[in-house]
Amino acid sequence: MSRFDTNFDEMRYATRAVKSGEGPDPVTRAMNTPIYETSTYGYETAEQYDEMLARGAKWEPDLYIYSRTTNPTTTALEKKVIALENAEDAVITACGMAAISNALLANLNTGDHVICSDDTFMCTSSMFEDILPSKGVETSRVEILDLANIEKAMRPNTKVVYLEALSNPQLKLANIPEIAKLAHSHGCKFIVDNTFLSPCVMRPLDWGADIVVHSGTKYYVGHGDALCGIIAGRKKEMDRVRFYYDNLGSHISPFDSWLTLRSVRTMPLRLRQQSESAMTLARWFETREEVDFVTYPGLESHAQHELAKKIFVNGLYGGMLCVHLKGGYEEMCKFADATRIPPIATSLGDVVTLMFPKKAYNNLIRISTGCEDVNDLIADFEQAFEALKK
Ligand SMILES: Cc1ncc(COP(=O)(O)O)c(C=O)c1O
Repeated sequence: MSRFDTNFDEMRYATRAVKSGEGPDPVTRAMNTPIYETSTYGYETAEQYDEMLARGAKWEPDLYIYSRTTNPTTTALEKKVIALENAEDAVITACGMAAISNALLANLNTGDHVICSDDTFMCTSSMFEDILPSKGVETSRVEILDLANIEKAMRPNTKVVYLEALSNPQLKLANIPEIAKLAHSHGCKFIVDNTFLSPCVMRPLDWGADIVVHSGTKYYVGHGDALCGIIAGRKKEMDRVRFYYDNLGSHISPFDSWLTLRSVRTMPLRLRQQSESAMTLARWFETREEVDFVTYPGLESHAQHELAKKIFVNGLYGGMLCVHLKGGYEEMCKFADATRIPPIATSLGDVVTLMFPKKAYNNLIRISTGCEDVNDLIADFEQAFEALKK
């Protein structure tokens, strides 16, 4: 067997992140996957083209006809995602919302009912409160930490249970293994948005989810320089998703695929650093008298800490934490305005620490921990606390 035939997907996680899905380019032997900036692919004869079209209709891999459907740079990224999510197939979309829309539309029709958690990203909430109901899909939003709420919301026409594994912005951790059992016992598909944790911290497919989606823009890309969406699952589920993805035109550009591909190689390294720093920050914030409470799944004080210990891998708890200061809106603004390292910005999962103060959630300050030296972050937050006294 040649070194280039090695199956890296059976190796350990960090090796998969670096090696899976990639190899020397079949034409040039370039070791880095090239950016295939092409919309179409040329064939010699009409018969050859016809044969390719027939195979393409069955979603055979490594077959290129048109870049809305498949592109070699994106295929390399799909293969890497399959290895990292423990999936059978994966589709890469233009952004996280395209991933969520495709996963939902592929599994819901007019007259169906879907149960969704009550704490989700704003545009996901629009899907459940506006877009899906306007197309005749019934939706129920429930507090999912109590499984009885999901059970009670079940209807004969319920087809999907949807939630964020660690919710945005309140960091509630869903009991993925138990909710998977509950959804399946009612014949429902279980779709999990794992954006806030990444597959380096928790892999929903391992715990019974049917489909995992991500805003790849966050931890997969990790450098704030591209938009990306991830959908992964078993082949059976993904064939239908692929049909929607292709027909709705949800593809990512080859350049953004390439940026993501390059970033994924360091995702395990980044998540280890971000998790360690987030834990240090969470513990430090807990000691501060200006702080009312801190939410971080790695803290014993987090309501689902025991669940996190069970379903997270490698002792990591991710990079996302929330801090509630004593006082109100004025204190939150003063503190946020006084920091120097983290910009006040939307998004998360970046190597740069980002801070997102949210008045609407009782003045919660969401921190996405980056890869700066944690001592510098602490010094910065310390001087911001000093500013509160002025
Ligand atoms: C949990 C979650 N899911 C999905 C999205 C949407 O991702 P994108 O911005 O890549 O479309 C976001 C964006 O912040 C998010 O936080």
